[in-house]
Amino acid sequence: MSDFIPVCEPLLGGNEIKYVTEAVQTGWISSNGKYVTQFEEAFAKYCGVKYAVAVCNGTVAIHLALTALGIGKGDEVIIPSFTMIATAFAVCYTGAKPVFVDADKDTWNIDVTKIEEKITPHTKAIIPVHIFGNPCNMDAICEIAKKYKLFIVEDAAESHGAEFRGKKTGSFSDIASFSFFANKNLTTGEGGMVIMDCEEKYTKCKYFKNMCFPVDGPRIYSHNDIGFNYRMSNLHAAVGLAQVEKADAYRTMRINNALLYKKYLSDCKGIIFQKDQENGLNVHWMNTIVINPVEYGHTKDELIGHLKEKGIDTRLLFISMNRQKSLKDFGCECSGEYPVTDWLTENGFYLPSASSLTEEQIRHICEVIKEYQK
Ligand SMILES: Cc1ncc(COP(=O)(O)O)c(C=O)c1O
Repeated sequence: MSDFIPVCEPLLGGNEIKYVTEAVQTGWISSNGKYVTQFEEAFAKYCGVKYAVAVCNGTVAIHLALTALGIGKGDEVIIPSFTMIATAFAVCYTGAKPVFVDADKDTWNIDVTKIEEKITPHTKAIIPVHIFGNPCNMDAICEIAKKYKLFIVEDAAESHGAEFRGKKTGSFSDIASFSFFANKNLTTGEGGMVIMDCEEKYTKCKYFKNMCFPVDGPRIYSHNDIGFNYRMSNLHAAVGLAQVEKADAYRTMRINNALLYKKYLSDCKGIIFQKDQENGLNVHWMNTIVINPVEYGHTKDELIGHLKEKGIDTRLLFISMNRQKSLKDFGCECSGEYPVTDWLTENGFYLPSASSLTEEQIRHICEVIKEYQK
């Protein structure tokens, strides 16, 4: 097998062309169009919540969610140190400060035993991130939030269709956000969604996303608050609707990828997988492995180089939030120790994870990894 295997590529296997063509042919290409509403309704239903507001990416989805909760300057928001920078930046956009908590060594999600020590009188919210599609322990997080009267904003950017105790991620919190970037389990190319059960927060999201124009009634150019243009186009929503129609099938494909990687690497020493959250359904957005260089015989960087030579694409993992110059300059407390996050960054990477991967491709990747082991 000589073909290059990318780390991820979108699977657009349903009604995407039909719906996008219809949007083009009817001229409804901006944010006014039936697909935006249909995508919002279908996605809300899929997640088991009442409302959804489509936006132009997953980063602004978090910002809009925090804005709807009234979070701003002087507030603190707890986030995992092991996450994509978007989680932290979205908090900074509000003027609030992100406060970091290390990852759990098994699930790689926020370590729920370390959250309480970071709570101060300024703490307003916790943002659990369901890393790589593995749901967080929402029992523990909801209990802490209740005890300290904090909001929860799930950053579900990576976890479309993941479940905890049979409930979908995004449905546990006051408000939650998703990303539909091209590598996500469901995609619109660029896109995001905010979901919630509360009608008031829903109205606020619609209001702030559209420059604080009145949500209902005639479009008058009088603006009482500072708003944003976070609208999703009807073209993107057309793709999104077609993706939601296939959501269960795509979820199964990602889960199967993970099962195959585990099966074919089961006899390879020094390879560590993410542990599924107890009572959770991990949808395996990205198949990530962590290398124990002593047991495996090579470092992560050596293995990445070898895979590249063999035409197999990989990606590095996030660098801890406390090591980001941008966040230090913003005034975040960056001095603590985040050993699990550092261990993940140092030793882990993503393997190819597209929904469309074949068993033959996964077996080939695993053989290359096994053959290279010393
Ligand atoms: C955890 C997390 N949050 C937020 C985002 C931001 O989403 P987007 O790239 O759509 O802005 C991502 C993107 O990958 C992510 O992984």
